[in-house]
Amino acid sequence: MSKAQTLGEFIMDRQAEFPFVSGQLTRLLTDIGVAAKIVNQKVNRAGLTSILGASGDTNIQDEQQQKLDVFADDTFMRILSSGKSVCGIGSEERDDFVRCGEHGEGRQGKYIVLIDPLDGSSNIDVNVSIGTIFSIVRRITPMGEPLGEGDFLQPGTAQVAAGYILYGSSTMLVYTTGTGVNGFTLDPAVGEFFLSHPLMIFPERGATYSINDAVKAKSGPATQAFIDGCREAVDAGFRGRYIGSLVADFHRNLIHGGIYLYPSTTDKAHGKLRLLYECSPLAWIAEEAGGLAVDDRGRILDKVPAALHERTPYYVGTRHLVQALMACRLAGPGAFSMDPQGDKSP
Ligand code: AHG
Ligand code: MN
Ligand code: MN
Repeated sequence: MSKAQTLGEFIMDRQAEFPFVSGQLTRLLTDIGVAAKIVNQKVNRAGLTSILGASGDTNIQDEQQQKLDVFADDTFMRILSSGKSVCGIGSEERDDFVRCGEHGEGRQGKYIVLIDPLDGSSNIDVNVSIGTIFSIVRRITPMGEPLGEGDFLQPGTAQVAAGYILYGSSTMLVYTTGTGVNGFTLDPAVGEFFLSHPLMIFPERGATYSINDAVKAKSGPATQAFIDGCREAVDAGFRGRYIGSLVADFHRNLIHGGIYLYPSTTDKAHGKLRLLYECSPLAWIAEEAGGLAVDDRGRILDKVPAALHERTPYYVGTRHLVQALMACRLAGPGAFSMDPQGDKSP
């Protein structure tokens, strides 16, 4: 039996396969793995230490931050900015982007990181799975010049790597660099991520829908029609599952097939989720795994952000389910029923 491949070996092998892939990206991905292990340690001890609970601060979106959010943010910031690969970091937990390097101008380093350091933070207190989401793009400003906001406001199609870490019943790191999606599971005894889920693909059919049910009534007619269709398909195996941690909901749907929805609502026209830190990276992973990710109009990856903390309606998952949702937009309420084994019947 051959030895299991570690994350470090995998990243290095990929660099050897593609000589044009820079050593800086290899270093950056390795650093993300290191930071993930540190945050994982803290997450595992959350119930044991006084770190649990609200820190008293609020982030730019006026949401209460948990201390673990702050720790995760600090850890990723510290580790990523001390390597030589990163010139700037945008974090969900910080009002402004951070420029790395001497004098804080971001003159060196090829890559920009956009990160949701702790996703699903309302689940910390109740010992439910949480995650980290990251997106990596190349700088636009020429090397040697100070970074500008435009370096951070790039569409999802500009990503060179994207991934997430799921702190769940086991801890996983899943990422893509555009040649498929690979998942690694942390062996806590050894302190290494091992390749456990090579070339992850959504199952062709899915039967899970994930939405905060309370927002359904405020969502548009197409979303409501779609959810009604899913509910009516209970005898065909359809089920609602919602953890409230995007990473965990997304991961389950990637493995078993399903769709996650955070819709636009009457009171929140742009939904809740952030384009740069949450939606774009998972959209790319979804597409690389054979799925789809859209807002109310079109493909998430094509959206050009106008602001760092921009939000977007978000529908992501198994291709045929996202397509069925989109069909509801054209056909109107009550227009279809869903069978996970067969095609939708309008
Ligand atoms: P974060 O903890 O980074 O603020 O993200 C929380 C997000 C996402 O993970 C989750 O799916 C969603 O918010 C839950 O929102 P509701 O509580 O409105 O369902
Ligand atoms: Mn989040
Ligand atoms: Mn967060």
